[in-house]
Amino acid sequence: MTTWPVHGRISGPIVMIGFGSIGQGTLPLIERHFDYDKSRFVVIDPQEKHKELLDERGIRFIQQAVTKDNYRELLTPLLTAGGGQGFCVNLSVDTGSVDIMELCRSLNCFYIDTVNEPWPGFYFDKSKGPESRTNFALREITMAARKRNPGGTTAVSCCGANPGMVSWFVKQALVNVAGDLGLSYDEPKSREDWAGLAQRVGVKGIHIAERDTQRAKSEKPMGVFVNTWSVDGFVSEGLQPAELGWGTHEKWMPENAGTLGPDAQAIYLLQPGANTRVRTWCPTPGPQYGFLVTHNESISISDYFTVRENGKATYRPTVHYAYHPCNEAVLSLHEMFGSAGKFQETQHILDENEIVDGVDELGVLLYGHGKNAYWYGSQLSIEETRRVAPYQNATGLQVTSAVLAGMVWALENPEAGIVEADEMDFRRCLEVQLPYLGPVNGYYTDWTPLTDRPGFFPEDIDSSDPWQFRNVLVR
Ligand SMILES: NC(=O)c1ccc[n+]([C@@H]2O[C@H](COP(=O)([O-])OP(=O)(O)OC[C@H]3O[C@@H](n4cnc5c(N)ncnc54)[C@H](O)[C@@H]3O)[C@@H](O)[C@H]2O)c1
Repeated sequence: MTTWPVHGRISGPIVMIGFGSIGQGTLPLIERHFDYDKSRFVVIDPQEKHKELLDERGIRFIQQAVTKDNYRELLTPLLTAGGGQGFCVNLSVDTGSVDIMELCRSLNCFYIDTVNEPWPGFYFDKSKGPESRTNFALREITMAARKRNPGGTTAVSCCGANPGMVSWFVKQALVNVAGDLGLSYDEPKSREDWAGLAQRVGVKGIHIAERDTQRAKSEKPMGVFVNTWSVDGFVSEGLQPAELGWGTHEKWMPENAGTLGPDAQAIYLLQPGANTRVRTWCPTPGPQYGFLVTHNESISISDYFTVRENGKATYRPTVHYAYHPCNEAVLSLHEMFGSAGKFQETQHILDENEIVDGVDELGVLLYGHGKNAYWYGSQLSIEETRRVAPYQNATGLQVTSAVLAGMVWALENPEAGIVEADEMDFRRCLEVQLPYLGPVNGYYTDWTPLTDRPGFFPEDIDSSDPWQFRNVLVR
């Protein structure tokens, strides 16, 4: 039997909001790695689908939705019961992350989530302009909360695989490339140092480049949306505008783009991200299409690595997600967009028992530097996942182990205020997470978005710089 390291003690109650695919997978990691009072562990979810896991353990379950109207009354007594410092682990959809985070901080309780989730209505409000449905807008709400209340009890915003772990991969990848280029540098200590190193390395941009090859024996039935993680979560973000952190090297912008923030810090397109394709690269498939789905990390990483002089951005990398979900999810999107974005009535998350094989290859592709492009990330297979942790598939374990790392970091840095993954100690977080990530490797490639192009037909490309977004976006 493996003995797992206990990373810390949670002195107050643990309140987990949401017990879907990520909540279930996080449960065994909390059990393994923390010392806590089991009688004050509570899980809240309006659905009781997976309640048996809690019953088996004698963990209290409250079948209820956390809402804008009830969250204060519902959560306050649970988070403060019996004294000590509580920990709220928010792994739900449809709950207002920032409101809950602020409540937790006011009660001196730790908080962590994996996504900046709004209360219901935000994603599908047709009266809102497209720019107010962006992740840029959602992140601004978090940044405003931080400004209102700097410092104080640690709350970790957006700490799953991506957003989350990929911010730690970016730093590791950057020092790897800097070393391979023979640059002499000291390990960066501040945000400014990191941004300066990215500029010196010559990183023009970063894809969060993912290929999920997990598959089940059965094929996707008509009218069912199949995915390897939250269908609700994926559909919500997939219908937001495509959105990316906007690099200073870019010379062209799509005609349907709008800009966000000072110096066009980010841009959004007037089209849904899950119906927007980009050219990208992962080690196993090599070149592939990915979907440019909006994510918090596109904005946060790009912002973190910005170099400013006299308040003006002089260097910023382009950053966006380039996601090839499992094949059944690709077909599910095809079906959904084929009916004008009407969401299938049935949803299904592939679990570890029905997946027959496959790997979630999730990493960061740093491009445009002296060695062209470098992918660094986790290649976690379903077999390895089954071996190391129960109740989840490979996609889930990349997320839940990042939640674990974020919780450990919060306990070790209890007064850090509201933080994003970019601001946490990447070495410590990866150290906690690595046992759960399968092989974590780096690969150089000489592929660019102009490789083998143009083909049979004329194309609008910029041959002076392969790494322009103009060449990356599929049009
Ligand atoms: N950062 C990342 O890498 C990453 C990856 C995967 C998922 N996520 C996010 O994690 C969250 C959970 O994902 P999942 O795959 O477990 O989703 P899921 O759909 O499997 O589960 C979500 C759960 O939330 C519950 N829920 C719905 N409304 C609620 C409410 N008002 N109060 C409390 N619970 C409520 C649902 O009943 C469900 O059990 C989602 O927000 C998702 O976007 C982040």
